[in-house]
Amino acid sequence: MPAGERVAADEVFATWWSPSEAPATQRPSFSGYPFTLGVASGEPVSSGVVLWTRLAPEPLNGGGVGADPVAVTWEVAEEETFGRVVQRGTVVARPAWAHSVHAEVTGLEPARWYFYRFMAGDEVSPVGRTRTAPAAAEVPERWRFGLGSCQHFEHGYYAAHRHLRAEDLDVMVFVGDYIYEGPGRAGSVRRHVGGEARTLVDYRNRHAQYKTDPDLQRLHAAVPWLVTWDDHEVDNNYAGVRSESLDPDFRRRRAAAYRAYFEHMPLRRRARPTEARTVLRSRHDWGRLARMHLLDGRQRRTPQACPPPGRGGATMIDERCPELQEPGRTMLGRPQEDWLTAGLRGARERWNFIAQQTLMARARVIVDGRRRVSSDAWDGYPKARDRLLGATADNGLRSCVVLSGDAHTAYACDLKRDFDDDRAPVVATEFCCTSITSRGRGQRATDTIVRTNPHIVYGNSARRGYVVIDVTSERSTALLRVIDNPADRNAGVQTAATFVVDAGRPGAQRV
Ligand SMILES: [Fe+2]
Repeated sequence: MPAGERVAADEVFATWWSPSEAPATQRPSFSGYPFTLGVASGEPVSSGVVLWTRLAPEPLNGGGVGADPVAVTWEVAEEETFGRVVQRGTVVARPAWAHSVHAEVTGLEPARWYFYRFMAGDEVSPVGRTRTAPAAAEVPERWRFGLGSCQHFEHGYYAAHRHLRAEDLDVMVFVGDYIYEGPGRAGSVRRHVGGEARTLVDYRNRHAQYKTDPDLQRLHAAVPWLVTWDDHEVDNNYAGVRSESLDPDFRRRRAAAYRAYFEHMPLRRRARPTEARTVLRSRHDWGRLARMHLLDGRQRRTPQACPPPGRGGATMIDERCPELQEPGRTMLGRPQEDWLTAGLRGARERWNFIAQQTLMARARVIVDGRRRVSSDAWDGYPKARDRLLGATADNGLRSCVVLSGDAHTAYACDLKRDFDDDRAPVVATEFCCTSITSRGRGQRATDTIVRTNPHIVYGNSARRGYVVIDVTSERSTALLRVIDNPADRNAGVQTAATFVVDAGRPGAQRV
């Protein structure tokens, strides 16, 4: 890169954090309809929710709003007709944040559905539907949420999201690979616009392209979402500030990706990136029935152990890699580990769901007599996994369910502190969702993993889909749904398997 360009990039980087402020325009004129990316809501509490949109009349070309801040009004009503608006407010959509809007609504009633919309100038957004959580002291009859991950745009249409919308969910949980960073490639179902995402504008355009999908927009407009990221929101298999290619400029690239992620997700102000960090982890109660912990397993993790020479990133490594057993290795970082332990301890009697990126169960493969594991999943962080499962067992949590993605495989697993001991007690249950669209490995390889790892009771990598979890005081039921063909926007859905976890009795039972 010529020196002049580097200076310009540094200046752009600096202005992210201290943008100049201009008064907001009340009467904007747009080059086209500004609500092309739809609307969304997220992070519901008993008294409110966060509402999201982004003004982008030219979504694939930087947004197209210009340099002025724009006043955006939001409304929340009890009916879709907006006859009685119960809350209204105005927020400023700023160019420094890609004219995104994150409105934190308060003063709503617990356990209720609401409708919302946005106005900017003469333009009105599509109507979204959202709901609040039950009151803190209540034990609701049930909680029903969807679990999804890995929606590679080029690998298919979002038929899975169309079916999720019909599942009567209270909340949608997404555990990463919302976008993929790779360049547009011919020969797939559809194609990314542009090359590999590296700059803030690239990541904004990529998020915008994904958000133009009508089925994804409709699912966002139908239920509040809880989101966390995995690697592809930034770069394949990155760890902390180390990239797969050991890119010396990776810190800047990651900051751009994190910023674009926040700009496009229904996240609270807490998660707004600063120069130093992004606080993505969050905790959500569904009355006294359940608690959901959403983890960030990318930002602070120790780099993957025993990488190939001259590379960062991940691969299948020999289990004898000495680095693996170092006690200081962490997936979450110590502050997040402590935060999680405190959060688990505070809700021992109810369901605890730990939603995060990668498979927690050991998934060993044996190649030429050698035991190998993925260095990118929890198998690459065995001591950290033991601390987490130890926190579950030692605090007497008997209704703990780990939710994961990344593997492009639907798994049901019994989690133990010693996977090599058949008699070791099961301390938690894990459900991993297959991908929304991203291609999976062949089923024969997955069958081998299931045979080699007896605590993995089910594995299906042949099909794309999602999981629905239905929670009551007595049991949690996991429905592993698969779609017929991701290349078909109108694909049907089937239930590949159903598992039940009884309260107080860890372990996945097939029904
Ligand atoms: Fe993925």
